[in-house]
Amino acid sequence: MNVINNIRQLRSWSTINKGARCVFVPTMGALHDGHAALIRAAREIAGPSGNVAVSIFVNPLQFGPGEDFTKYPRTLIEDLSLCRDNGADMIFAPKAEDLYPPDRSIVLHETSLSQLHCGASRPGHFEGVCAIVAKLFNLVQCDDAVFGKKDYQQFAIIRRLVRDLDFNVVLHGIETVREPDGLAMSSRNRYLTPEERLEAPSLRTALLAARDAWKNGARDPDVLRRLITQMIQEKAPSSRIDYVAVADAHTLESVSATTELVVIAIAVFFGTTRLIDNIELK
Ligand code: PAF
Repeated sequence: MNVINNIRQLRSWSTINKGARCVFVPTMGALHDGHAALIRAAREIAGPSGNVAVSIFVNPLQFGPGEDFTKYPRTLIEDLSLCRDNGADMIFAPKAEDLYPPDRSIVLHETSLSQLHCGASRPGHFEGVCAIVAKLFNLVQCDDAVFGKKDYQQFAIIRRLVRDLDFNVVLHGIETVREPDGLAMSSRNRYLTPEERLEAPSLRTALLAARDAWKNGARDPDVLRRLITQMIQEKAPSSRIDYVAVADAHTLESVSATTELVVIAIAVFFGTTRLIDNIELK
């Protein structure tokens, strides 16, 4: 496995590996079993003759003022062994000063999907995500890229990025990996206090209850929203709900007559830790 931390080395790696299919997994490190599943999926897509590239970079641009950029866990040594164990061929772990010139003046502002839900709560977040993903796609020169569907809105926005800017990259969305009690795996779960950790699976419990209600015919978004809100408030009294969105899975806007697939996406604070989860209603 090659570990590369500058752009010059990355470019020569890309040149040497030009003929091989490259499947890319962008991450911010602090890797867990959810990332391992992404890397294994990438390995499968790449096949024996392809390459799996993983980036590890805590992107300062996607953190707002007062968010957890400085305390975000940095665990490079453990991350590298997880990557190796799951079949990665190349790790790109650059420094921020190598990626972002101090007088950087181009921004990528998605004007529709990113205004809602997490984008409304975290202004500038998706601009930062689009900036880094576009740069990494250009640098890594991948054929495919793998993202987790836990970040449902991020995946929808990256689909737009690829479509609207004609990146020649096939995107793959991978199902969320969960703890045995249903909590979606996240690098931020480690911030939870023991009490908060006990309450956190309520996000999943509430989403499953909403899906049951939906299967039994409940179609009114307000009814589904109320059910989720009440259940989280009851099972996680120390939490604060940021949003509960019942949305069209493609536009992320309100469900309409043309909606083919409905997603419920939620964000909930436990203290300063913000957890997200979602469920597709099929
Ligand atoms: O999903 C993440 O970990 C990050 O938002 C990403 C896509 C690696 C960009 O920094």
